[in-house]
Amino acid sequence: MQKSLPILNYWSKIWNRHPAFNALLIYMVYTIISGTNRLGSQSEKVAMEYQRILFEKSIDAKVFSLRNVDVLHRTPDFLKIENEILIPTQKFIFIIPEYNGTFPGVLKAMIDNSDIIKVWQNKKALLTGISSGRAGNLRGMDHLSASLHYMKMNVHHNKLPISSINKLIDPDGRLDSETLKEIDEQLNGFINF
Ligand SMILES: Cc1cc2nc3c(=O)[nH]c(=O)nc-3n(C[C@H](O)[C@H](O)[C@H](O)COP(=O)(O)O)c2cc1C
Repeated sequence: MQKSLPILNYWSKIWNRHPAFNALLIYMVYTIISGTNRLGSQSEKVAMEYQRILFEKSIDAKVFSLRNVDVLHRTPDFLKIENEILIPTQKFIFIIPEYNGTFPGVLKAMIDNSDIIKVWQNKKALLTGISSGRAGNLRGMDHLSASLHYMKMNVHHNKLPISSINKLIDPDGRLDSETLKEIDEQLNGFINF
């Protein structure tokens, strides 16, 4: 096993606690992808909750919804999204609903339609699964992780399954306190990732 020098460990611990390091983390470009094109989707509401929580942490993240996006062709609109949102992003948060036991095909189509190297390679990803059933899209998160790893992305270990979403979100799109606490912890881990 490879050992790192003790002096490097020491300086890395000091640097990780330094205010300048925290400032750098905040200035990373974050995008939250709502991984479906379904009108009225719960995933989009959860994506907005992630945006709100990040904003409270001084991080101004964009929400990119697949609604009304032609994901099958490299149209001028798609290229604009790619150039202005996807390529500049360093950290992606995927909110993925469970459709027939996995993540939606429209998300895979969007990924397949993009410039894989410029958009995804060597970037970081956080995954959250949404379902009305019991699984919280655990399988879909594993499927997406495998694909993202193939594209040389770094996927954060804390994948959050949110099951029975209809019972956890109110008509204003606000999640219950227990789920918010889990998201808060998950995001703190991802910000330091
Ligand atoms: C095409 C389709 C397939 C679905 N398949 C599943 C499923 O396999 N398991 C499950 O728990 N819920 C399933 N659902 C329900 C979704 O999990 C539910 O709609 C949830 O709110 C997340 O999706 P949304 O963001 O589209 O709202 C499915 C919904 C759709 C539209």
